[in-house]
Amino acid sequence: MKIAMIGSGYVGLVSGACFADFGHDVVCIDKDPAKITALDAGVMPIFEPGLAELVSSNVRGGRLSFTTDLPSGIAGASAIFIAVGTPSRRGDGHADLSFVHAVARELGEHIGPSVVVVTKSTVPVGSGDEVERIIAAAKPGIQCAVASNPEFLREGAAIADFKRPDRIVIGTDEEWARGVMREVYRPLFLNRAPILFTSRRSAELIKYAANAFLATKITFINEMADLCEKVGADIQDVSRGIGLDGRIGGKFLHAGPGYGGSCFPKDTLALLKTAEDYDSPTRIVEAVVKVNESRKRAMGRKVIDAIGGAGAVRSKKVALLGLTFKPNTDDMRDAPSITIAQTLIDAGVEVSAYDPEGMALAAPMMPGVVMAKSAYDAAEGADAVVIVTEWDAFRALDLERIKGIARAAVLVDLRNVYDPADMREAGFAYVSIGRG
Ligand code: UDX
Repeated sequence: MKIAMIGSGYVGLVSGACFADFGHDVVCIDKDPAKITALDAGVMPIFEPGLAELVSSNVRGGRLSFTTDLPSGIAGASAIFIAVGTPSRRGDGHADLSFVHAVARELGEHIGPSVVVVTKSTVPVGSGDEVERIIAAAKPGIQCAVASNPEFLREGAAIADFKRPDRIVIGTDEEWARGVMREVYRPLFLNRAPILFTSRRSAELIKYAANAFLATKITFINEMADLCEKVGADIQDVSRGIGLDGRIGGKFLHAGPGYGGSCFPKDTLALLKTAEDYDSPTRIVEAVVKVNESRKRAMGRKVIDAIGGAGAVRSKKVALLGLTFKPNTDDMRDAPSITIAQTLIDAGVEVSAYDPEGMALAAPMMPGVVMAKSAYDAAEGADAVVIVTEWDAFRALDLERIKGIARAAVLVDLRNVYDPADMREAGFAYVSIGRG
């Protein structure tokens, strides 16, 4: 089956490469000629483990190609995926659908009959109706279904998530389109991945509801961690104690500096906007967004407290280890490190930082921060070393070496990577999350 993937960003590229790996004939289309030239040369626009290898083996196998030309790219395709960005619209938080609508207009000019147009981009409820309207206006009477097929890929684990999904959600009421989508996902169907057919609006809402729920779970455990610190309990034990209840589940109960990334912050805001538009308030999600925002600043203050408090920060230096919003990605979007660094700089603290993959994107976003060559380079002369993102490379730091080069043996562990007793034994003043 021929599949066209419009938008070669994170979602489009991973999905396109995985579909090709299933044996489909995939063309990835992107407006950006520099991106397409780079992809043709085997250079990935993002850092994602395993992606470069997957792309190159499928290009070699003749199943995956790249183009900037939409009309030739979609010719003969049975399914055309729209996987372009839907960033937060500046000012009101609504998902910006201008890229999606532009693609729909172009599709309207060039699309042939019996094709399923699939929105993979995260779009608010009702967006599929508009895509359908735009295409129908350009080609009245054409047999074309617009389906919703949200993605649930975690950065850093996207290929595994695509190939072994918890579920596949397909939103369309058209039986023939369901048949096409069954063919698209047949290789996973055989692996018994559950495929859930729903209406288009339900599928669109499933994506937002899933991300809002996960963001709520993280925010809940983060507030429990704060309470643990006050009452002298241990959040790791509390997480395990509640997570073993099958109704709650143990995943996404890891307390930290607050969620970030390309999805949760943007999608929670967009859900609030939809709720407002439909006069159906989602007060829990409202609270989650506010709590998460203030948490990032609170993490900056936590670091300041660890180096003696606001009155004693002049000429002090803090080393931030890990800048990306999570490990195994170079993505800096809404990373807590940005707010933490700014809170420290605003208070007059000197900040150095190191990240295994995120330095290039982080540097322009953090003008006041000195970018170091390694974790140890960052720790040189520091009054505290702060683990902001739990990269594997920070799980076994040479603590003796850090003690030797830092001004003070203070470790602030915002991801609870280390054991408090071990750190005490190693001679560190150790501050972590929700552990007394
Ligand atoms: C998320 C969803 O998981 C995915 O299904 C969706 O389609 C896109 O958004 P992603 O943003 O890549 O994926 O990362 P994820 O692993 O979900 O983490 C998101 C944020 O939550 C990160 O900042 C992470 O550090 C934080 N987090 C996650 C926690 O603080 N604690 C946890 O227990 C889990």
